[in-house]
Amino acid sequence: MHNVELYTKNNYYQKFIARRFYNFFGDFLKTEYESQEISLIDVGSGCGTILSEVTVGESGLKFAKVLGIDISDKMVKFSNETYGSELMSFRYMDAMASIPDDFSGVQFNMATSFNVFHFFNDLKKALKTINDLMVVNGTLGCVFFIWHRYLDAWDALIEKYPIMTNWRSHFTPLSLVDNPDEVLKKYLKETGFEIVEFIDVKNEVYNCVLPENMANTLDAVNPFFTMMSEEQQQQFSKDQISKIFELQGSDSLVEPFRNIYFIARKVHSCSTD
Ligand SMILES: C[S@@+](CC[C@H](N)C(=O)[O-])C[C@H]1O[C@@H](n2cnc3c(N)ncnc32)[C@H](O)[C@@H]1O
Repeated sequence: MHNVELYTKNNYYQKFIARRFYNFFGDFLKTEYESQEISLIDVGSGCGTILSEVTVGESGLKFAKVLGIDISDKMVKFSNETYGSELMSFRYMDAMASIPDDFSGVQFNMATSFNVFHFFNDLKKALKTINDLMVVNGTLGCVFFIWHRYLDAWDALIEKYPIMTNWRSHFTPLSLVDNPDEVLKKYLKETGFEIVEFIDVKNEVYNCVLPENMANTLDAVNPFFTMMSEEQQQQFSKDQISKIFELQGSDSLVEPFRNIYFIARKVHSCSTD
């Protein structure tokens, strides 16, 4: 589970990525929704900051209704208390499970998911659920990573931190295949989506500026961090940074990663297929 306290204070990287998404696709989306009000569902909305500040606050899109869903009750509580309004609300939902009964019939004409798909170990199931939540012709806009240097560091730390042994089972298998872009395109097609924009950025970087920023950013999204004792957490944070420096052969705080950004249109429902 994500660490809400750390995440609310350390989501600069996620904000940077969401802004890149709108730099790539903002004009397309403005044209797409020029003559209709947007009802948006944001999948894995976290603490709500990126949804509130970037999507609603900066994108230039006009929203009539915004719902953020997240699997973490703590994230949902924080975002409702901090950003809840007549326009925007948040609720618990597991995107890899079926749609809850009190949801049935509600559909959205736009869906977004930023920095979340890499946590789906069954991406196809999540895409089916998202399809069910959308109207035909609605668009799904996503960005997620395929690889980050810190994943290699986690692999190398398993022996010292057995609690991390199964970390890969919490992550997308797309990070293990040679052609993640092709697999994703196949999943989208099989779940009723047609790709309208697709960017696979194989070499991106983010400058963490300070070692503590790098440690906090990584610890905030490590599902195993909250399961460690305070002492273990402190040691793990240090070991993680040392391992990253060792793997890259320098003390650089410029973190390399590979992201996929896309927009897909729902062309048909897949629940009856
Ligand atoms: C890195 S955070 C990103 C939050 C937000 N989208 C942002 O960009 O700041 C990933 C979020 O996905 C949520 N999440 C992970 N698995 C999920 C699932 N199966 N269903 C819904 N949310 C999930 C986590 O609880 C976490 O809040």
